Amino acid sequence: MGVSLMLAVAALLAGCGSGGSGNSTPPVTTPQAATPMLSVSAGTYTALQSVAITDSTSGAAIYYTTNGAVPTTSSAAYSVPIPIATTTTIEALAVASGYTNSSVSSATYTINLPAAPAIAPIADIHQGFIYQIVTDRFFDGDTTNDNPSESPNLHNPNGFTNPADADWNLYWGGDLAGIQQKLSYLKSMGVAGIWISPPMNNIRVNAAASNGETSYHGYWTRDFMQIDEHFGDDTNSWTAFDALVTAAHADGIRVYVDFPANDSNPINAGENGSLYDNGILITTYSTDTGITPYYHHNPNISNYNDHYQVQYYTLEGLADLDQTNPWVDSYLKSAVEQFLAHGVDGFRFDAVLEVNWGWEYSLENAIANWSGSSSPARMPGQPFIFGEWNEGSGDALYPDSVKFSNSSGMNLLDYTLYWQLANVFGTGASFYDIDNELTLEDTGSSSIPAQAFTQPNDLVTFFDNHDNPRIMSQGADRMAVKQAISFLLTCRGVPVLYYGDEQYLFNDTNGGVVPYNRNGMTSFGSTDAVLLIQYLAALRAANPAVAYGTMTQRWINNDVYIYERQLGTNVVLVAINKNPSTDQSISGLYTDLEPGSYTDYPAQTMGGIGITVTGTAGSNNPVTNLKLPHRSVSIWVSAGIVLPSIGNITPRVANPGAAVTINGTGFGATAGTVNFTIGSTTLSATVTNWSNGQTTAFVPALTAGSATVTVTQDTVTSSAAPFTVNTSALIPVNFSVSSTPALASTDVIMLTGNVAELGNWATTWNGAIGPVTIPATGSAHKPSRYRREPRCSSSSSCCTTTNRSLRRTSSTVTPFPLPARVQRP
Ligand code: NOJ
Repeated sequence: MGVSLMLAVAALLAGCGSGGSGNSTPPVTTPQAATPMLSVSAGTYTALQSVAITDSTSGAAIYYTTNGAVPTTSSAAYSVPIPIATTTTIEALAVASGYTNSSVSSATYTINLPAAPAIAPIADIHQGFIYQIVTDRFFDGDTTNDNPSESPNLHNPNGFTNPADADWNLYWGGDLAGIQQKLSYLKSMGVAGIWISPPMNNIRVNAAASNGETSYHGYWTRDFMQIDEHFGDDTNSWTAFDALVTAAHADGIRVYVDFPANDSNPINAGENGSLYDNGILITTYSTDTGITPYYHHNPNISNYNDHYQVQYYTLEGLADLDQTNPWVDSYLKSAVEQFLAHGVDGFRFDAVLEVNWGWEYSLENAIANWSGSSSPARMPGQPFIFGEWNEGSGDALYPDSVKFSNSSGMNLLDYTLYWQLANVFGTGASFYDIDNELTLEDTGSSSIPAQAFTQPNDLVTFFDNHDNPRIMSQGADRMAVKQAISFLLTCRGVPVLYYGDEQYLFNDTNGGVVPYNRNGMTSFGSTDAVLLIQYLAALRAANPAVAYGTMTQRWINNDVYIYERQLGTNVVLVAINKNPSTDQSISGLYTDLEPGSYTDYPAQTMGGIGITVTGTAGSNNPVTNLKLPHRSVSIWVSAGIVLPSIGNITPRVANPGAAVTINGTGFGATAGTVNFTIGSTTLSATVTNWSNGQTTAFVPALTAGSATVTVTQDTVTSSAAPFTVNTSALIPVNFSVSSTPALASTDVIMLTGNVAELGNWATTWNGAIGPVTIPATGSAHKPSRYRREPRCSSSSSCCTTTNRSLRRTSSTVTPFPLPARVQRP
């Protein structure tokens, strides 16, 4: 503006001096928009910065770059403060109508975030987190298996190098050796376990009828007893697998195998449901015509609310294994046990909603009872298992999922919470969505017959996975990803981070759906997200409140969530403000942190601040003068001595004599006592491997039922932790009901009987067994109902039909005629 005025004055003077006519019109000049102002001065910082840009020209729009390019009107339009977590130069331009474009303002912020604390070794996966890997997409550690002779021409060399020009449905070359070569990257990030995509031998051809897709993902198994040639070697040996397990364990990293027990491979494509047993062809779908078929031969599931369809129909065209066929039962369990013998630390079971639920009780039981030896050796602790039940809490079968998990002992992936995490961090939904979901899962519901999950800390939590668009494809920017990471790693449950999120990996093709969420890892470097994960891994490892404690909401609005994890005097208070521009004053916040001042645990790497807690020592102390910066995460921590506390029992359902790992803290250095109690009977367990946070106990010979477990050290006894004692090994048994009365649509048939596994004559929905499944109308197939029961070594009374009856759950319990029973060997 000043420049323009001076030019005008100079022109007037020139006119006078030259004796001109005096009629000349001063030239019209366009003023220039003011140069944008950056709220933070250029310089070096040790904390995350948030840079606001303003401009004094009325109505000016601001455009900016962070990549060194000169900003233009095509650059990003400024709307909310820019979070700066890594060294960045911001260049900004103001554009306003009636003005020429402003000069460019520029500032470089050098960010030196402090290194995270060392991550202490942990004894139990709850104290760490799992990292999910799609093996084919992670790292090509062995190029000799890229194009194996058994299954040639399924490989696309562009996968990792030029994803824009790659076929996302072919193999890209990642393998078990590749994971092994990147273990130091995983270890330095604090990864405590890896969940690898199914490594078993998959179909060897392109499933052309299914969009030309290979089994790079591992879910189209042909032989559960072998390792796939793309991930291992061309003899389908276990060499690469064993090498990975050995190396991972040496780095303190557990290995969890994804096991798809529901099905083998596509019926109408590829190898048409071929099933092999260690190289020997057993059947294909079309030749499966024996008296005891290996597969169900039903249509695709069309109604996921139907108990029968989900368990007995076909999932997405995949040959649906009949786990009640004794051969299939034995084959799948042998395959699981073979992985245990090769040192795996647990399993992620695929599609547990769609597998026969009763059989899965017996699967959990088989793993709980497994006492074989492993080579390579497993990590300390009994196998941790978790399954995929892909539903939300509004779905019809949600109550079944809770009941299934509570009584079978199969932990579940927390899909219900997932949907809310994706909404909140991906699309900006309200924190109430998360809070309400946690309340429902952890405390149950009065409006639906859903119990609470008895062990919320055993739910396996995640915000991204291989089946849904990454949250960056749903709208999250890097800061939102880090907020999601902060939440996940401090929430109750065992967290799973999906590979590549720490590198901000995403691809928006088709909205980032499968396969575009199965990106090739292109970088294994340090990022601000990696640093954040290191901080949070250190916190999880150091403070048992995060691994095992309660989770309580302390303050909430749409954009702010403050919650507390607590175990005794260990308290971790987490505050997230995801509002893009508004700092939030917090009043009425209380905490069980003791009075004092607390700094931000991640040292302001997420823009956090310190707090002062006043009041008197004890619980519910006020936090005063708190204003949470926009887009920040603050974590305040206190650690204390804890008396014996049980955080987890793995497995949490087992038979007398089975080894169970009891995890927690405060157990003391020398062996104390572990007691199991059912009713008025308390028995001490034989224990081994005693340390302050972990011991192994052998379930004493109690009559089956709901038990409690305590740990006692120096006369101090822990709170009681829930456990379920089974009668003995569970075997799958099929039986059919030949005639039932007409049922109303709301009626269900339940099963009850004289042992705990059969409900101890309970006639409530949550107490009895079931609902038993009813074939959909019009199905050509006989009912193939299923239940579980104790194995009887002889014709002992528990196996006679006189010990059970079939009842309908209603106020007037009407016994039905005893079912005709068909028991397979
Ligand atoms: C669920 C898995 O997560 C998914 O990726 C797979 O395609 C289906 N199950 C079928 O196995």
